Amino acid sequence: MIPFSPPRIDKHIIEEVKDTLLSGWITTGPKTKQFEKLITGYCGHRKTLCVSSATAGLELILRWFGVGPGDEVIVPAYTYCATANVVIHSGAKPVMVDVGDDFTISPSAIQKAVTHRTKVIIPVDIGGYPADYDQIFKIVNIKEIKEKFCPANNVQKELGRILVLSDAAHSLGASYKGNKTGTLSDITIFSFHAVKNLTTSEGGAICLNLSDNFDCDKIYNELAVKSLHGQTKDAYSKLKGGNWRYDVKEAGYKSNMTDLQAAIGLVEIKRYENDMLQKRKHIFYKYYNALKNKEWVILPPAENHFRESSFHVFLLRIKHITESQRDEIIQKVYDDGASLNVHFIPLPMLSFYKKNNYDIKDFPKSYELYSNEISLPIYYDLTDENIDFIINSLIKNTENILKG
Ligand SMILES: Cc1ncc(COP(=O)(O)O)c(C=O)c1O
Repeated sequence: MIPFSPPRIDKHIIEEVKDTLLSGWITTGPKTKQFEKLITGYCGHRKTLCVSSATAGLELILRWFGVGPGDEVIVPAYTYCATANVVIHSGAKPVMVDVGDDFTISPSAIQKAVTHRTKVIIPVDIGGYPADYDQIFKIVNIKEIKEKFCPANNVQKELGRILVLSDAAHSLGASYKGNKTGTLSDITIFSFHAVKNLTTSEGGAICLNLSDNFDCDKIYNELAVKSLHGQTKDAYSKLKGGNWRYDVKEAGYKSNMTDLQAAIGLVEIKRYENDMLQKRKHIFYKYYNALKNKEWVILPPAENHFRESSFHVFLLRIKHITESQRDEIIQKVYDDGASLNVHFIPLPMLSFYKKNNYDIKDFPKSYELYSNEISLPIYYDLTDENIDFIINSLIKNTENILKG
């Protein structure tokens, strides 16, 4: 069976993890700090804090920005549940909007959804393709929209507008007008979950790129404290002689990254641009070229004159099929020996969100994209033979189903 997204575990990763195990320090420490510096250097934003997951990172930022009951956060209906669940955790309301043909949040739908309660917009770079950040920033900076913004604390006052918080769980290394994700919004969150482009088994990063009137070193320290119970010192700095006394400034969270996780990330980030991303692009274009002349294919967005994907998954769509025919194709390819997937079931189709009065009928584009979408795998160890096998099985089964 060809799996959907196994991690790349090789001798370099095993050696670095072993080195950490033998170092006597396995939780947050020097490797996490080094990994943070490499992420900052690679993407070019101002400061990085590594955390235990992207979900934890999104949630920490909502708390830091002071989002709570009575506030609204605009999210796309077409995303993974983490994007909206964190808004629920904060006590605010996720205001869902539809997406465009490229799977990313629709700027015109955002503009219509803004109210005086809106505090944050969370665009999602689905499949690795960046949202339209210029359009999103144009909207948050429109005079009437800025006037609607009601700051409730000093951070919100200092920003003076809606915060743009990217869910870049899929898009490390993607770019928009030559700038890498991390630099495309106020704050960007990456995921290093096991199936992501760069993994630390579980993990995430908060990338600060706020304007110069914000002291990102100070915010980094605040977030680090928030991610560790509100405690003023982490275990590593407490170790240093005579440095044991600490205080707790707030009832913080427990979402720090460990050095064991960072050890995997250190190996991955060093070979990310020239090895991992190139391999992903190669796989993406093998699918692309094999399928582009099929009249039943809708190809995924990948590159245009100003956006380039990080090639996280291949979001194929098939014309003229129903949801159940799509499911049947996935099953038939699985029976042949390869796992495919769907990214994602739109949130308004999931029980929790249905119960909370979100209705997929209000998000026709999300439904249209979802109903005929099939995600093809992209990962480092996928061989050319595997790719050919997937393509042949997909074409055979799709054409059989289309013939009826
Ligand atoms: C779009 C999106 N956002 C957020 C997340 C959450 O990432 P993590 O598992 O690191 O919390 C995921 C994970 O699959 C995702 O796909």
